[in-house]
Amino acid sequence: MQDSINKIKINALLEIEKANDSKRLDEIRIQFLGKKGELTGILKTLGSLSADERPKIGAIVNTVRNEIENELNRALDKIKGYELNKQFENEKIDITLKGRAPFTGTRHPLRVIFDDMEEIFLGMGFTIAEGPEIENDYYNFEALNIPASHPARDAQDTLYFDNNLLLRTHTSPVQIRTMEKMNPDPIRAIFPGRVYRRDTIDATHSPQFHQVEGLIVDKNVKFSDLIGVLELFVKKMFGEDRKIRLRPGFFPFTEPSAEVDVSCIMCGGKGCGVCKNSGWLEILGSGTVHPNVLKYGGYDPEIFTGYAFGMGVDRIAMLKYRIPDIRLLYENDIRFLHQFR
Ligand code: DAH
Repeated sequence: MQDSINKIKINALLEIEKANDSKRLDEIRIQFLGKKGELTGILKTLGSLSADERPKIGAIVNTVRNEIENELNRALDKIKGYELNKQFENEKIDITLKGRAPFTGTRHPLRVIFDDMEEIFLGMGFTIAEGPEIENDYYNFEALNIPASHPARDAQDTLYFDNNLLLRTHTSPVQIRTMEKMNPDPIRAIFPGRVYRRDTIDATHSPQFHQVEGLIVDKNVKFSDLIGVLELFVKKMFGEDRKIRLRPGFFPFTEPSAEVDVSCIMCGGKGCGVCKNSGWLEILGSGTVHPNVLKYGGYDPEIFTGYAFGMGVDRIAMLKYRIPDIRLLYENDIRFLHQFR
């Protein structure tokens, strides 16, 4: 009897030694000390022993029981401490870790270009003015010396509300509005804004797009002043290495007129797919303000000279950011817009 009690004790202590979590210790407790446990089994046989042996064996069983109990509790304390440490380890928070940045909006690429342009021209002493998007025939065409027969006046090209009211087709009408306001003071201003044409939308056309117009009106200003302004603008906008080239052009509101090209911002002038191997990209129209236009604005063309220019903001954004399709600028796809952080 004593032997088997000893065996149970050794067994129990071995098992406790091997156990490495509290669940296993519970199992061991049940296996040896539970109602149907091995040691309890011995107690149940006490009845069959002699009156002499009964208290002796009973006392031994109780001692062993206490020993196992103590060992179990000791092991449990150890394992609990270990398990708690492990839990702490798992729940550890690295408070030095950077937080996740909250979602922030981004400037639209057109806004970025507008902001850049405004900064460049403000730096050259220009002011900024705006005009209405709903214009009338007088400001959009008549006062800009655009003849009645001009194709731009056709309903095929211009979005009309009625015979007179229309959505402006360019920012040039702001030239007239500014001259009316400033006359007879000198003017050095740019007019950024949205313009409309009756175009079907495709990769390079949009019925709504953006322009920045420029106007200089003063006494004793020369064509070279205009070139200086445009050259500085191009270098600031596209890089110091860029050159400009003027080609003769035609606009009813400037005479003479020039188309201004910039040396290709992709290849630098060597020739590539973007500049169609010419080395040049057309970016704006400009010229000497037609005497009729100055008159419409209230300035005497015998005393004042004017220089004007106008450019497409969408085109410049597309060139600068290599945007292949103008529709990307208007679809507000966040995956596209987020590239312009
Ligand atoms: N208004 C012209 C257009 O929309 C652009 C332009 C050309 C503006 C020459 C000017 C200029 O001020 O001088 O195509």
